[in-house]
Amino acid sequence: MCGIIGYTGHQSVQPLLIDGLRTLEYRGYDSSGISILSRGKLKTWKAAGKLDSLVGQLPAKPSSGSTGIGHTRWATHGAPTDENAHPHTNNDGAIAVVHNGIIENADALKQSLAPHNIAFASDTDTEVLAHLIALAPGNTLTERVRHTLLKVNGTYGLAVVDANEPGVVVVARNGSPVIIGHGDNEMFVASDMSALARHTREVSHLEDGEMAKLTTKGCEISAIDDRLLHRTGQRSTIIPEEISQQYDRGGYEHYLYREITDQSETVRRTLGGRIDRRFNTAHLGGLNLDARELINLGRIRILGCGSAYYAGGAGADMIESLARIPCSAEPAAEFRYRNPVIERDTLYIVVSQSGETFDTLAATREIKRKGGRVLGIVNGVGSTIAREVDGGIYMHAGPEMSVASTKAYTSMLTCFALLALHLARIRDLSPQRGGALIDALDALPDLIEGALATEEKVITIAEQYHRVNSLFFIGRASACATAHEGAQKLKEISYIHAESYPASELKHGPLALISPETPTVVILPDDDLFEKSFASLAEIKARQGPAIVVTQSTDDRLNTTADAVINVPASDPLLHPIIMGIPLQLFAYHCARLLKRDIDQPRNLAKSVTVE
Ligand code: F6R
Repeated sequence: MCGIIGYTGHQSVQPLLIDGLRTLEYRGYDSSGISILSRGKLKTWKAAGKLDSLVGQLPAKPSSGSTGIGHTRWATHGAPTDENAHPHTNNDGAIAVVHNGIIENADALKQSLAPHNIAFASDTDTEVLAHLIALAPGNTLTERVRHTLLKVNGTYGLAVVDANEPGVVVVARNGSPVIIGHGDNEMFVASDMSALARHTREVSHLEDGEMAKLTTKGCEISAIDDRLLHRTGQRSTIIPEEISQQYDRGGYEHYLYREITDQSETVRRTLGGRIDRRFNTAHLGGLNLDARELINLGRIRILGCGSAYYAGGAGADMIESLARIPCSAEPAAEFRYRNPVIERDTLYIVVSQSGETFDTLAATREIKRKGGRVLGIVNGVGSTIAREVDGGIYMHAGPEMSVASTKAYTSMLTCFALLALHLARIRDLSPQRGGALIDALDALPDLIEGALATEEKVITIAEQYHRVNSLFFIGRASACATAHEGAQKLKEISYIHAESYPASELKHGPLALISPETPTVVILPDDDLFEKSFASLAEIKARQGPAIVVTQSTDDRLNTTADAVINVPASDPLLHPIIMGIPLQLFAYHCARLLKRDIDQPRNLAKSVTVE
């Protein structure tokens, strides 16, 4: 949410900043801007709208500077306008600030500036920082930023430049990611490793409460409150290969389509090295928990936001049904705000693609503060959540560029299937049943290919239904999470209203809305509950509701009852949520395409929600 980029070195900074913002644009795309230090002056350009609006304003011959900062915004305070775009500057334009986060005491800070007759140019909470830094005591930019930040309540990842200190970028972090890239006589900073990967592989993660001065000679990291201990040494890490590799649209019009169609490969990576045929279990070395600790678990609680929460719902079902450990999922923000009891024999699992989602991170910290043990299922290698959990499973799905999650969602479910198998084999799952599940997991990439092969059929259905005003998605037990995720994908990228329910809940209210104008997508797995789910389908048809069924079943009654049937490959029931989600992703994609939506960057949304 909001992307930050900064550089100081010997390269022409303008193309470098724009290139970085292009990579970061998925984090926010309502406005963007850059500030460049050139010949003792600071020049700032900013524009509402997508990055191309900014590019259209820039001089054809790049500005000569080699120090600068840039920002791509997802609005929190103030509408997406030119004025509210970052960087924000002080009145003489010498200081420029880019900021990700929320300054909670911005109003009080503004009032404290009343005697200085400052003309505020924007409605943002960020602008006050530029004025405060300009007026702060201190001989260096670092001192003035420090002095300012000690007055600030809230969250920030920020970068600051000052026309009076050429070649210097000051950065600071409290709650929003700031990653420093080390180059050869040049330094980079970004809110996301992917923006650094093409320049360097060596990075340092700033921790909350730290700031740094970047110059061509390197970086000096210190505590914002310098009464606290300074960091000793440089704790730099290497950007992993999977992020360094350029990830483009692969010739497709949309990242989302590439990410959907890549899923057999991404799941293969998630499974890589994790199948243990010797003991017919999953090998999950990163859990940092041995069998003796896992056998004593009384309960598992899964936390995440949005699609990660829905993946948690499916994961809870996998774990409880296979390993027979009570397991439930809850939205991370709701969990932390209800002052949860942290139980000694409970294992907490946080799920996050980015590894930076504020609410999931805050829940992680709250559990750890209360003495609980937290595992992470995370895609973002080296992300804040990945660094703060006690152990976990990396998804290895590679960068997910489209705002709507698809391949990461599928990899989350694959991680849960591995974890369920691992836990079940520690408990009472037989080696034979473990072996059968391993065969099923081995076949998963091919089964995903089979599910992707439903696309022709899905396109026909999307052509028929993309103009409806509203749809229902229903599923029973393990299919319920799939229904929630199917509705979520459709809403996000096509803007068609959709509601999801456990199938059993339909008759307790929503059935009143079933009509010939309101289709229902019925997730109907070929499992023990088939007849019960079929009864829900029959109830919909009895009220003339169009029904689209996703199933493995070849039961003849489906073709005569449903209006459309999408047949996915049969598999072990453990894997049903993985395979049955794929046609729903394709359905959302093709509805959105037919409606000419902005598929990779849907309105009002941003990837990686790093504010509360
Ligand atoms: C939906 C979607 C969001 C995210 C949610 C959590 O397609 O992408 O609902 O799932 O914002 O994000 P992460 O997984 O990065 O914590």
